[in-house]
Amino acid sequence: MEVIIRPDRLSAVDLTVRLIEKRLRDKPDLVLGLATGRTMEAVYAGLVASGVSFARCRTFNLDEYIGLPATNPNSYAHYMHTHLFSKVDIDPANTHLPYGMAPDLKLAAREYEDRIAAAGGIDLQLLGIGQAGHIGFNEPLSALMSRTRDKSLTPATRQQNAGMFGGDAQAVPSRALTMGVGTILEARELLLLACGAAKAGVIASAVEGPLTSRVSASAIQLHPSCKVVLDDDAAAELTGREYYDFVFSNEPEWAEFREETDR
Ligand code: GLP
Repeated sequence: MEVIIRPDRLSAVDLTVRLIEKRLRDKPDLVLGLATGRTMEAVYAGLVASGVSFARCRTFNLDEYIGLPATNPNSYAHYMHTHLFSKVDIDPANTHLPYGMAPDLKLAAREYEDRIAAAGGIDLQLLGIGQAGHIGFNEPLSALMSRTRDKSLTPATRQQNAGMFGGDAQAVPSRALTMGVGTILEARELLLLACGAAKAGVIASAVEGPLTSRVSASAIQLHPSCKVVLDDDAAAELTGREYYDFVFSNEPEWAEFREETDR
């Protein structure tokens, strides 16, 4: 794992955008795993502004609420359409989200896994992190080998996401269809972005804490190619910062990003 800490949210987002843009330019038919949440809105705005082509890109989202149709403004399908898909040259047929309206959710989950496999697996999976320590909607005690399935959301997660539902946690669906931790770990590369002081505790647990299903994001420690991009506030509780900064300043892979972000 590599931890890259930027001075503020803008530069953390900027570095994340540049990394995704580079992967898309290097491999135009990239299979890109996408995430939702407020943190990602700026990433999608940055990708749109970059002008990079999504014409051959295929996307798979991490999760979707159960019971919200794509026409519902709070569904993740609607979120993706609003923030990215309607603003870039992607072929809608190449965009995939778990289908939270499926009459048979177990079948829908299996089919989602099949579609990822048929695309050749995910090249780059973008991740946010919930305050409960989740990636996707893998709430505490999600098996570290779990696959796409339906999950009940914790009260903390419903509270955290209430802002998008007029501040009413009861209005947030109680269940979601999400890629499993095992599904996420099969992506060839992981890129987790977290910003803000509210994420500092959970980032310290995920990055430096023990591997535990209580914090599903700690599973990223198992992944051979994982980058965690943070702003200063989200990095506040990390103890190994000096070393992480040293790596970012010295690794040849980061040279072009150091120049871009220091400009
Ligand atoms: C939701 C998503 C997660 C995301 C999290 C972070 O819970 N299911 O995939 O990581 O939001 O949200 P935010 O960026 O709004 O803090």
